Amino acid sequence: MSGTSLDGVDVVLVDFAPSPWRLVAAHSLAYPAELQAEALALNERGEDELGRAAQVGGALSRHYAQATLEMLASAGVDADAVNAIGCHGQTVRHRPDRGYTTQLVNGALLAERTGICTVCDFRSRDIAAGGQGAPLVPAFHAARFRSRDVHRVIVNLGGIANLTDLPPDGSIVGFDIGPANILLDSWTQTHQRAAFDRDGAWAASGAVIEPLLAAFRDEPYFAAPPPKSTGREEFNRAWLERFAPDRHRPADVQATLAELTAATVADAIERHCAAASEILLCGGGAANRDLVKRLAARLPGRTLTDTGVLGVPPKLVEAFAFAWLAREALAGRPGNVPEATGAAGPRVLGAIYPR
Ligand SMILES: Nc1ncnc2c1ncn2[C@@H]1O[C@H](COP(=O)(O)OP(=O)(O)O)[C@@H](O)[C@H]1O
Ligand SMILES: [Mg+2]
Repeated sequence: MSGTSLDGVDVVLVDFAPSPWRLVAAHSLAYPAELQAEALALNERGEDELGRAAQVGGALSRHYAQATLEMLASAGVDADAVNAIGCHGQTVRHRPDRGYTTQLVNGALLAERTGICTVCDFRSRDIAAGGQGAPLVPAFHAARFRSRDVHRVIVNLGGIANLTDLPPDGSIVGFDIGPANILLDSWTQTHQRAAFDRDGAWAASGAVIEPLLAAFRDEPYFAAPPPKSTGREEFNRAWLERFAPDRHRPADVQATLAELTAATVADAIERHCAAASEILLCGGGAANRDLVKRLAARLPGRTLTDTGVLGVPPKLVEAFAFAWLAREALAGRPGNVPEATGAAGPRVLGAIYPR
């Protein structure tokens, strides 16, 4: 899995035979700065995009293959013993309104370099069926985390925040809430010479600017009804610059951005899953102590914890989900949740590059 944050790739090895499914090994490999910059640049218009996209897709796939092979070597597992790789690729465009979403990855190269059957391009089929192609993790969240007694909500704090509502009655709702790490990382990179605000320490040193927070929250996306999904097209540096953040102390802007994520997540829960009693965080943002504290303050009376308590480390949930989606694809089972994506119906997701 490599998400919108563009931090790198998370790889997991999962054994689906036992119950609950067993996480055998995991490995994370950060993107080299140059690859990160090239992938980020492809989120915008530019010269020779087709050529650059193909080259970056190749470079990413070599990186994914390296991460996979390093993990297998340290786990002492032979590639022949692995049924499949599920690879999300790197999103550079997400325009379901125009009928497409683009994840850069060269599935043929990944299969060639690893010798393992590779499943990728999970989102296009859902879009072809009229859906948003996102979020795709709800089906996995339901399969792995649903309880028959407790009303749970899974909140993923990646580049974008998304939630999956899992009431005990078996229904599922899932949608993208809005920006999480995309804006926090971008502002940190400008003002702190760091890739991200570790533990949210910098945000914690600032004070929330209430009028700025109110202006952020006026963004129409937050009030739009699901199904909905978003990405860097909408929430990017240009979006933040519209509010002239340079008028303020940088640490206060960071605090306000963190508060925006907490407020929009809490609002989404209040509006769409008011009966939930347990909120389980996952994604890199679950390690952001300041952000978690802000969320806890806005969600009184509910248990706030992370997916680690259910046996899946928060940072690995999305990678686990794409391993599961590959398994579903190869079994010919649907991987989307039409209620979450808006697709006309359940669809088998993914393009398969055989071993
Ligand atoms: N210790 C930490 N403190 C604060 N933020 C963190 C920490 N660890 C990870 N993150 C954040 O998580 C992001 C990566 O999260 P991830 O779930 O991989 O998102 P994505 O799926 O968009 O790649 C990083 O860019 C960073 O913003
Ligand atoms: Mg990531």
